[in-house]
Amino acid sequence: MNAEEQEVPRHVGVIMDGNGRWAQDRGLDRTEGHRAGRHAARRFMRAAQARGIEYVSLYAFSTENWTRPVSEVEALMELIETAVLVELEELCREEVRLRVSGRRSELPEPLQNALSKAEEATAENEAITLNLCVNYGGQAELVDAAKQIAEKVRDGEMQTDEIDTDIFARYLYVPEIPPMDLLIRPGGDMRVSNFMLWQVAYAEFYSMPDYWPDFQPEHLDRAIEDYQRRQRRFGGLVLED
Ligand code: IPE
Ligand code: IPE
Ligand code: MG
Repeated sequence: MNAEEQEVPRHVGVIMDGNGRWAQDRGLDRTEGHRAGRHAARRFMRAAQARGIEYVSLYAFSTENWTRPVSEVEALMELIETAVLVELEELCREEVRLRVSGRRSELPEPLQNALSKAEEATAENEAITLNLCVNYGGQAELVDAAKQIAEKVRDGEMQTDEIDTDIFARYLYVPEIPPMDLLIRPGGDMRVSNFMLWQVAYAEFYSMPDYWPDFQPEHLDRAIEDYQRRQRRFGGLVLED
């Protein structure tokens, strides 16, 4: 029996992909897919909480998604803002702590305000942490961390020799987020698309063909079952008894 058997992953990440294809299959505008994706996110959070997952990272908008048509980008910004504000009541009721990862200052101001408001209102909640990744890029996160560290060294507050992985991790967007255990990608693609490059170091990858708007709690159960069958070695050896 391996150690992961029956163990629920502590931190689960989701690349919420396939909204556009889901809509196109139905002859709808891509935006309708994003709208449906928002409800999938709510279903996912409820399912994750019920299964005892402690941290969820949801990839909502990447630093590369700005290259999409302005109309789609604007619709996404408004949708994320509305979703955060409308869901705030449930986040509070369910004791969800919201944290945000990404280059926030580049977001439209109303969205920045909504994110800050929700973070403040949920700061004391302890049931589960939702790390919402908006204007998030794994490379940008590492660059932003490196810049802060470089400034500390420049100002004489840190020695170059002190820098190790533990110190570096303190400069990530949400330092208390633990390493990712399970990374779920709906939509069938098998790539990381610049998501949490630091945190995925030893995450178990689970790709599913269904599009994100079709997510159901049973998908999470299947992903967890698959995860529990994996043997995680973290670069070491598993010694037989
Ligand atoms: C994911 O769905 C949501 C975002 C990237 C914002 P997509 O919009 O990428 O949907 P597909 O991959 O085109 O189907
Ligand atoms: C990843 O999906 C980003 C989000 C889900 C927010 P993309 O659709 O942007 O990724 P690629 O383009 O397929 O790699
Ligand atoms: Mg996509």
